[in-house]
Amino acid sequence: MMLLGDVFPNFEADSTFGRMKLHEFLGDSWGVLFSHPRDFTPVCTTELGRAAQLSLEFSKRNVKLIALSVDGLEEHHDWSKDIMAYNNAEPGSEFPFPIIADDRRELVEELGMLDPEEKDQSGMPLSARCVFVIGPDKKLKLSILYPATTGRNFDEILRVIDSLQLTAHNRVATPVDWRPGDSVMVPPGIPEQEALKLFPAGVYTKDLPSGKKYLRYTPQPNTHQQ
Ligand code: BEZ
Repeated sequence: MMLLGDVFPNFEADSTFGRMKLHEFLGDSWGVLFSHPRDFTPVCTTELGRAAQLSLEFSKRNVKLIALSVDGLEEHHDWSKDIMAYNNAEPGSEFPFPIIADDRRELVEELGMLDPEEKDQSGMPLSARCVFVIGPDKKLKLSILYPATTGRNFDEILRVIDSLQLTAHNRVATPVDWRPGDSVMVPPGIPEQEALKLFPAGVYTKDLPSGKKYLRYTPQPNTHQQ
């Protein structure tokens, strides 16, 4: 099982963009590797359709998307055309990111992406809806796991990437439902005097019944702090 901070395996796989080695494919980019249970299924079609619509938003953030399921390359190529049609894309436009064909189930097993509750007609478990966000240092920054019956929200995946990229370069944390531009929080562990120096835009501390001064906000920094 992959833990946060682990170096993501530099696996080699066949994809709709050709044979790929993960680290070389990512280069200096961030990566989102996400699996789906099966090609030609309804929820997966809506998910990959949404991811394709948002692919420019991911590239703007220097993030490369990679999808994966236990189907083969031919199915991926045929299904991508359905997804583009579902999106009402211009006829002939290409699906914008690679889909890995893990029909031998090697990667889903190695990376713990299988859903033992969701099986195909022959009783073989399918891939769950996993999301792995990988940093430019190739380490796992975030993982989310959904069952087959619950589609993901790709706006949320963009939102967490905004938080991950901000907090990778600044000693801040983002609160519940944070959106870019909102105030951020000063993490516990930064002493008051240091916080004042680190955040020249100001630190606002909310008074609480406990008298403890842990709810500290500062405007979102725009620049790389470290
Ligand atoms: C779907 O994508 O619609 C789906 C796939 C497997 C199980 C349930 C739903």
